[in-house]
Amino acid sequence: MNTIDKFKNWQRKIRWNKQYRKGRWNSLRSDRERIRYETITKHINKYGKNNPDILDLGCGEGILFEHISNNNYNSFLGMDFSSVSIKKANKIKTDKSEFICEDIHSFVPNKKYDVIIFNEIFYYINETEKPNVLNIMKKHLKEDGVFIISIYREGHGCWNYFDNNNYQKLKFETITTDRAQTYWKIGAYKPIL
Ligand SMILES: C[S@@+](CC[C@H](N)C(=O)[O-])C[C@H]1O[C@@H](n2cnc3c(N)ncnc32)[C@H](O)[C@@H]1O
Repeated sequence: MNTIDKFKNWQRKIRWNKQYRKGRWNSLRSDRERIRYETITKHINKYGKNNPDILDLGCGEGILFEHISNNNYNSFLGMDFSSVSIKKANKIKTDKSEFICEDIHSFVPNKKYDVIIFNEIFYYINETEKPNVLNIMKKHLKEDGVFIISIYREGHGCWNYFDNNNYQKLKFETITTDRAQTYWKIGAYKPIL
């Protein structure tokens, strides 16, 4: 990232922290959003192996984790660059889960995962860094591991990274709500090695 992009990323982090402090993202716990978390959980259960190790990139307050039953995973790591959201997430941590404060642009996992989730984070990755972040995450997927990606509305600048010969598309669906402009595209992809 160049210096200007680094500065913008830093500004964004301050903004997220402020918003989490004010409870601006409490709406993510609404009934309308629930279907997104439930769809991702369904994909984890279907495409991840039994008892998977799960990495949730840009986990925010850990709401996805709240939707995952304690019996359905081996380990869960949530990461986010907002220290405020991570502090909140840590209140729900269990002995099999952990939440850490890291920036996705520099984060290198210290083990391999069965499922790596980009849940409403892909558009915050700097354009020039997307290939690098994806390569690092690919290296930290176990054999037969999958990526699950959720993006609000169309997700320009996202799906072209997955809809190509390097990935097998396992599932792709549009999740709609009672509000016309509120919808998500959610996909499960397996890298072709
Ligand atoms: C729309 S929220 C989604 C939160 C969570 N995935 C969910 O759906 O409940 C986007 C999240 O991405 C995080 N984020 C944005 N840029 C990031 C970065 N460079 N590194 C790590 N996290 C980042 C924000 O702090 C925020 O928590």
